Amino acid sequence: MSEEITGKKSSVILGIGSYVPEKILGNVELSQKVETSDEWIYSRTGISERRIASDKQSTSDLACLAAKKAIRNAGIGVEQIDLVIVATITPDMSFPSTACLLQHKLGLNQVACFDLEAACSGFLYSLDVADSMLSSGRYKCALVIGAEKMSSIMDWEDRTTCVLFGDGAGAAVLSSGGEGPELLGFRSGADGSNPTLLHQPAGGSLKPASPNTIREREHFLKMNGREIFKSAVRVMEKATRELLADHSLDLADISHVIPHQANVRIFESMAQRLEIPMEKFFCNLDRHGNTSAASIPLALDEAMRTGLFKTGEFAVLVAFGAGLTWSATLVRF
Ligand code: ACO
Repeated sequence: MSEEITGKKSSVILGIGSYVPEKILGNVELSQKVETSDEWIYSRTGISERRIASDKQSTSDLACLAAKKAIRNAGIGVEQIDLVIVATITPDMSFPSTACLLQHKLGLNQVACFDLEAACSGFLYSLDVADSMLSSGRYKCALVIGAEKMSSIMDWEDRTTCVLFGDGAGAAVLSSGGEGPELLGFRSGADGSNPTLLHQPAGGSLKPASPNTIREREHFLKMNGREIFKSAVRVMEKATRELLADHSLDLADISHVIPHQANVRIFESMAQRLEIPMEKFFCNLDRHGNTSAASIPLALDEAMRTGLFKTGEFAVLVAFGAGLTWSATLVRF
């Protein structure tokens, strides 16, 4: 059936898993550190609390715990994995890749491993890339992860950003055959014309770390929230419409939307523009905030565990992120 729709064999999700750190940072506690309030954060974003990794936990540690659950749920042995992609903007270090560090922690074979950087769209970009690699026939079983320690790049003195983000990881095991939700199609894009809307100014080749960059707090995330908000709604609507058109589906055929968990007001604007009822939008950002590349797999794992999806239903996973990047994936359960 899926070949009828896509003209090729679809990749399937054999198993999914997620992990969030134990430490919960609620809005009230946060408002004791920075000038804000529970009322402001919740009414402007829909966020009540977020998880914060311990000083000892790195992104690959979060990824490892999520991956172990996904592998267990997939019912496979680690030796079957022949490709690892980690989507992150908070790698353990610039290099080697977090995927290589994870390979060792999981005891995998010496398989292909790399990181993919597309900010909050990173997990969906990684599904797109993994599906292509599986379709080539040269890989059979991919471990795809979105993992972030956003707390490590937060400016805890900047109330316009530090209230929004959280830490976590989500993982999926994909295979070119087998039983599970099918990945029917993808739409990924980017607009690199305005990179400073959301960026980490220093620490790269353009502006290497120096006493000055540290003094200027340029190793932290900086964002123009209002402009990002407007772009997010526009590009996620566009990607969703194009994805459905590719597969001759109508908006009414979609039972669920799993959007990047950034702001509930973004969901409301999308729901209005797409004329999809809000009840179809899955939301867990009240408990996690924006976990960047981890947000979609974390939401998908929670939604699957609550039994949200019925066999045969279509869902759109859709994200936007720094770049500006965007990506949408069509899934049939
Ligand atoms: N507490 C209290 N007041 C605050 C806070 C805060 N935490 N943050 C900002 N304010 C103040 C501002 O200073 C401003 O005050 P002023 O009017 O006196 O200047 C006022 O609140 C309104 O600020 P806005 O920026 O207009 O607030 P807005 O309603 O746009 O909400 C927000 C800001 C939540 C950031 C919103 O714009 C947003 O969600 N944007 C999208 C951000 C996003 O999704 N980023 C993730 C991208 S994905 C990735 O790749 C990482």
